[in-house]
Amino acid sequence: MYNTRLDGLTEYPFQRLAALLAGIEPGTAPLVMSIGEPQHTPPDLLAKALGRTALADWGKYPPTPGTPDYRTAVAAWADTRYGLPAGFLDSERHILPVAGSREALFMAAQLCVPPQKNGRAPTVLMPNPFYQVYFGAAVMNGAEPIFVPATKATDFLPDYGGVAPSDLDRAAMAYLCTPANPQGTVASLDLLKDVIRLARKHDFVLISDECYSEIYDTAPPAGALQACAALGEGLKNVLVFNSLSKRSSVPGLRAGFVAGDADLIAKFQKLRAHGGAVQPVPVLAAAAALWRNEDHVEDNRRLYRAKLDDAARIFGKDFGFYRPAGGFFLWLDVGDGEAATKKLWREAGVKVLPGGYLARAVTNDPRSNPGSAYIRVALVHDRQRTADALTRMKHTLSSLSL
Ligand SMILES: Cc1ncc(COP(=O)(O)O)c(C=O)c1O
Repeated sequence: MYNTRLDGLTEYPFQRLAALLAGIEPGTAPLVMSIGEPQHTPPDLLAKALGRTALADWGKYPPTPGTPDYRTAVAAWADTRYGLPAGFLDSERHILPVAGSREALFMAAQLCVPPQKNGRAPTVLMPNPFYQVYFGAAVMNGAEPIFVPATKATDFLPDYGGVAPSDLDRAAMAYLCTPANPQGTVASLDLLKDVIRLARKHDFVLISDECYSEIYDTAPPAGALQACAALGEGLKNVLVFNSLSKRSSVPGLRAGFVAGDADLIAKFQKLRAHGGAVQPVPVLAAAAALWRNEDHVEDNRRLYRAKLDDAARIFGKDFGFYRPAGGFFLWLDVGDGEAATKKLWREAGVKVLPGGYLARAVTNDPRSNPGSAYIRVALVHDRQRTADALTRMKHTLSSLSL
């Protein structure tokens, strides 16, 4: 006996990638650029902060709402980052710590998807391509996923306003990723305001996945908290997810937060008391120190920018290269993502991810998968190794005969 909804899930992209590359020997100096796991050295500050924590704190079950210190650090960070009016974000009512944003993004569907909405099966809106957790969350909670194109034609962002009103009326939630994984596009403040208005009009929850918010090229991306402040009506129908994984290059720390609608935060806390992964108290203390420091984040951005400079020099306008406004992925149009992935592994020793594994075909024709022509390349290694790998990739892709 098992939950047959599982049958609706596709294999996770990294399993599909392992199957695709099985039996292929990598060419020279293998480098994994398929996974968005930052390899920059974590800040010294982390070791210092962990060193200051009390041994006795490991002897405590962590409280679901975390510590006041952690929530205060997050609220102060968000206030400054988004210029929020004093008192707009209340660290007691609007913030919940989570052990990284991934599990919380998944659990959000348990929180927000009702058995029925307006007497019909609920939907969950998501961009296509998308972070795969969104799809798993929708399917495992009995909602119908609605894939909204996020292609070059839409500036790589979903147009939720263009979704059929009947689908909007039964929408329980909409995932929005800004900066977007995999395309690196950033939603403007106006777009965020529009989506929030839509969420309030059709009474669904906007799930704003902002975990790449601090990895940007020139201008800091707007956020949904900021859009709420600009609109009025508080934080109704909005939940924002963020974490230190990318900002501070500590994906292993599992430190993040959810912020937004006080009513939903209270319900989320109730749900998480039953089965949410919580952050240990010493981790909360160290994570609070990281939220309070911006110097290491600026260093981090500087390194990503230098790698983007290299990528721009190496690729020029080839393979649809563009400089992403946020995040650390290249989204390259290589014609056939799977064929290019195999060739890059075999000849250049570079492991990338076929874009089709991050998207869904919208008709029976596999070419209707908006990611299938692309590969995603994570610029997570040091500058030299990244530049060397990109140079090998350029060479290999230039001789691509698919
Ligand atoms: C779009 C997106 N959202 C959320 C996450 C989850 O990150 P974390 O759980 O480390 O916060 C990731 C991780 O790669 C991601 O790419």
